[in-house]
Amino acid sequence: MLVLEKNSLSEEIGKLVDLYGKDRSSLLPILQGIEKNHKYISDFAQQEVARLLDIHPVEVYSVVTFYSFLTHKPMGRNVVRLCQTITCDMFGKEAVAKAIERELGIKFGETTKDKSVTLEYANCLGMCDQGPAMLVNDQVYSHLTPEKAIEILEKLK
Ligand code: FES
Repeated sequence: MLVLEKNSLSEEIGKLVDLYGKDRSSLLPILQGIEKNHKYISDFAQQEVARLLDIHPVEVYSVVTFYSFLTHKPMGRNVVRLCQTITCDMFGKEAVAKAIERELGIKFGETTKDKSVTLEYANCLGMCDQGPAMLVNDQVYSHLTPEKAIEILEKLK
């Protein structure tokens, strides 16, 4: 990361801290603000947040890695998160996962070469009675079949 980019990111994080405050309870909204603007929270951003809130960087990292809507690596323009929790698994998540991987030509945890889609697993999305479920950006889809999942992905092109 260039010095100029680091300075501008530090400034941006400083503004988020001014907005939300320096309490521990501000950590999540600050991280969400960074995620919203950059689509991920870099190591440098995590260190800056830790420095400004005067907490250990491990604490920031553990929050970033705990929540599936926060990410610590660059993501594609669209993020597809398929629920991997037990109920969706029982409703046929595996067949949906295989169809999605085949369609996109990548595995879960990867991003397409053109950076259009990142594929991730998520934990329960709160749609257990309608599984398998997945989140495409902010939109939830349920009662998925392999065919329905492919149709949804085609709309992203
Ligand atoms: Fe998949 Fe709850 S188990 S949405």
